[in-house]
Amino acid sequence: MAESAELILDGKSYSLPVIEGTEHEKAFDIGKLRDQTGYVTLDSGYKNTGATKSAITFLDGEEGILRYRGYPIEQLAEKSSFLEVAYLLIYGALPTQAELEDFSHQITKHTLVHEDVRKIFDGFPSAAHPMAILSSLICSLTAFYPESVSPDLSKEEIDLNVIRLMAKMPTIAAWTYKNNMGHPLNYPRNDLDFCSNFLYMMFSFPTEKYEIDSRIVSALNKLLILHADHEQNCSTSTVRLVGSANASLYGSVSAGINALWGPLHGGANQEVLEMLQEIQKDGGDTSKFIAKAKDKNDSFRLMGFGHRVYKNFDPRAKIIKKAADDVLAALGIDDPLLKIAQELEQAALTDQYFIERKLYPNVDFYSGIIYRAIGIPTEMFTVMFALGRLPGWIAQWKEMRENKEPIGRPRQIYTGELERDYVSIENRN
Ligand code: SDX
Repeated sequence: MAESAELILDGKSYSLPVIEGTEHEKAFDIGKLRDQTGYVTLDSGYKNTGATKSAITFLDGEEGILRYRGYPIEQLAEKSSFLEVAYLLIYGALPTQAELEDFSHQITKHTLVHEDVRKIFDGFPSAAHPMAILSSLICSLTAFYPESVSPDLSKEEIDLNVIRLMAKMPTIAAWTYKNNMGHPLNYPRNDLDFCSNFLYMMFSFPTEKYEIDSRIVSALNKLLILHADHEQNCSTSTVRLVGSANASLYGSVSAGINALWGPLHGGANQEVLEMLQEIQKDGGDTSKFIAKAKDKNDSFRLMGFGHRVYKNFDPRAKIIKKAADDVLAALGIDDPLLKIAQELEQAALTDQYFIERKLYPNVDFYSGIIYRAIGIPTEMFTVMFALGRLPGWIAQWKEMRENKEPIGRPRQIYTGELERDYVSIENRN
C-alpha cells in the first residue's frame, strides 16, 4: 500500500500520509492540508470524507456487510438480545453472564423517571409528534441530572449516565405513546426484561391484562438489534459533532433524535407506511408510483429505497423482510400492505432506473410492516428506530470522548458578496 499520496498544486508537490483501517479501507490524511497549501477540500454531504476513526461498526456497502465490533449482524440478530448487543456496542466486548445480568439489573433499577416529567407532557399539544416529545424529554434529563452536563465526568459518572439513558428512554417513549393516545401511563415493572417491559408500558391497560407474547418480544429484540448502530450516518454524526463541543450525552442524543426524525433518514420508516397506504388507497397500482419515483419533475421518492452507502441489498432489510413474513404468519395477520411492498420491491428491482442507480430496499422498507403487526402506530415508528439506535449513539459519543477528539468545525468556500460599505436606510432603494 502507498505510504502517502502526492498532491501537486500550483507547481508544488505535497505528500499526504495514507492510513489504512483493519478492514483495509484507505484514506489520505488531510489534517495539515490548509496549513501546507492554503486549500481546503469540499465534499457536499461528506460522501467521500471520513470524519473519524472508529472501532465500533464496520459496513461494506458494495458487499452488503454489517458487523458490530466484528460480529456479523446476521448472527447477532439470530442469537443475541438487544441488551447484549447494547453492551457489546457500548463496552466493546460481548458480556459474560454476570456482566449482562448486572447491566440488565442496573437498567431495570433506573427505568423510573422523575414525576415532574409527567408535567412536561401536559405542556405538549395532544397532536404533538412523538419524536418532538422524545427529543425534548431526553434533553430535559440534563435538568433532572444537572451533574451530567459536566465535561469532566469520571468513568463511573459516564456509566451512570449511560445506564440512566438506556433505562429511561423506553419509559419516556412508551409514555409519549400513551400520552398521545390519552391513555393512563404505565409505570415500568422490575420483573420484566427490557423488551417485555417496553411492550407492557406501551400496551397494558388498567381495564385488561396485557399478555406478553414471546413471539413479539423476539421480533422486537431483532428489530432493535438491527437498528443499533450504523457507523457515521447522519444522526450518529450529529451526536458526535454536538458531543465534540463537550455537550452532555443527553443533549447530544437529543440532537441525534432530531436528525433521525428527518424523512430522508430514520423518518423514512413512517413515510414508507404512509406511501404504502397511499398506493393502497389509490387502487394498488405500483407501476404508477414507480413512474412517479422516476419522474424528475415529481418530488415523490420511493421511500425505504436507496442508501448513501449500500449499493447492494441492505443486509438489515433482508433480515427484516423475512422477519415480517414470520411475524405476520405467526400472528395470523394477512396485511395487504405487505403484498404491496413486495410488489413494489419486485417492480423496482427489475427497473433500469433503480438498477442503474443501485437503489435497493433499505432498513426502513419493511420495518413498519412488523411494527404495525405488533400494534405500534405509524407515528411511533421513528421512535422505535431511535430506541434501537440509542446504544450506537452512546457508543459513538463515548468513543469520541475517550479519544479526546477536537471540537468539530468544518470549513467552507465563501461565495457571497465582496467587501462593501454600509448604506443608511434612507439611501436604500
Ligand atoms: C437511513 O446513512 C445511514 O446509514 C442511514 C441509515 C442508518 O441506519 O442510519 O441506514 C438509515 O436513513 C436509511 C435511508 C432511509 N431514507 C429513505 O428511504 C428515503 C428515500 N431514499 C433517499 O432519499 C436516498 O436514497 C437517500 C437519502 C437514502 C440517499 O441519498 P443520496 O445518497 O444522497 O443519493 P441521491 O439522493 O443523490 O440519489 C442518487 C440518485 C438520484 O437520481 P439522479 O439525480 O442520479 O438522476 O438516485 C435517485 C436520486 O433521485 N434516488 C431515488 C431514490 N433514492 C435515490 N429515486 C427514487 N426513489 C428513491 N428512494
